[in-house]
Amino acid sequence: MTPPSHLAYVPFISVENMMRLVHSIGIETVLKELADAIEHDFTRWPLFDKTPRVGSHSDVGVIELMPTSDGDLYGFKYVNGHPSNTKQGLQTVTAFGLLAQVSSGYPVLLSEMTVLTALRTAATSAMVSRHLAPKDSRVMAIIGNGAQSEFQALALKAVVGIEEVRLFDIDPAATAKCARNLAGTGLKVTSCNSSQEAMEGAQIVTTCTADKQYATILTDNMIGDGIHINAIGGDCPGKTELHKDILLRSDIFVEYPPQTRIEGEIQQMPEDYPVTELWQVITGQAEGRKSASQITLFDGVGFAIEDFSALKYVYERALKTGHFLQLDMIADPDDPRDLFGMLSRAAEPA
Ligand SMILES: NC(=O)c1ccc[n+]([C@@H]2O[C@H](COP(=O)([O-])OP(=O)(O)OC[C@H]3O[C@@H](n4cnc5c(N)ncnc54)[C@H](O)[C@@H]3O)[C@@H](O)[C@H]2O)c1
Repeated sequence: MTPPSHLAYVPFISVENMMRLVHSIGIETVLKELADAIEHDFTRWPLFDKTPRVGSHSDVGVIELMPTSDGDLYGFKYVNGHPSNTKQGLQTVTAFGLLAQVSSGYPVLLSEMTVLTALRTAATSAMVSRHLAPKDSRVMAIIGNGAQSEFQALALKAVVGIEEVRLFDIDPAATAKCARNLAGTGLKVTSCNSSQEAMEGAQIVTTCTADKQYATILTDNMIGDGIHINAIGGDCPGKTELHKDILLRSDIFVEYPPQTRIEGEIQQMPEDYPVTELWQVITGQAEGRKSASQITLFDGVGFAIEDFSALKYVYERALKTGHFLQLDMIADPDDPRDLFGMLSRAAEPA
């Protein structure tokens, strides 16, 4: 069989290569650079194609497609969310994604995105906290100590300067795992017996629990004045984490309102409930934190532009460092209109 030309090959970042890539740069540097890359794309918000992600829901979870384009590159992510998966030894969230040239439609990158989603979600929380959290925040609480939790802690350390994380999970084994993984990172780690205890002295809280129902991870009495909340675990219709009273006391910041109104904490509120779009805060068109006593809530559901930024970031870094494989992914006939001829000539002689 004649080997294909270079047009057939698409760089592929496997899980192994993603891990090598992250370690070659350093995880905190990756989180900082990703936060900057996502922030940069938020400043270009109006030029992106935007649509609420396409979800396929079942009783046990959701499978979603998240497309966007900046006119030069097109990207999409496939991602699932299955809160009961961990009971069967499977992850709640897995993902992969692709970048393509808009000019030809040819893919330029296929990548694992399970690790990359955790990195980009943490980088987004950190970037948003940089804009909204109280100045000089040093203590954060993390409620839900599963796959996303350590990434959240390290991103907030790297980007905002968090020094102490206070952990709580209904499963003490998850908290013990998180504390073990964060040992030696320079963070002071405090394991707590309740959400209330975890909130003591915290200026920032990230909720990243997984449950396929309206849950109440935080109640109003736990939220003191001046707190910044990154609520990232409520990200599906019927799946929220905060008591409605917290929403009533907060100023709410969102990625893309048409998607967040379907999936975020604000699905508990009327359809026209006031929210501020983060890209407008980042570009100076809207106010972020106005006072030390204000409660700011990032109702984060994860938007396609964050995945686009993350894919573009790892694409550039992978090409520089060589941490990728070449996949023979695009059929490459010598005559572009003779696809059938290419297939026929590949038949093994009988
Ligand atoms: N917004 C985004 O961009 C984004 C991105 C990735 C994941 N997520 C969401 O974040 C959540 C966490 O993801 P993960 O991969 O870490 O899941 P995971 O299953 O690995 O961890 C979730 C943890 O939450 C704990 N938990 C469940 N109910 C709880 C409660 N009432 N109080 C305290 N802890 C509780 C579980 O014991 C588990 O340890 C999921 O809901 C996922 O869909 C959101």
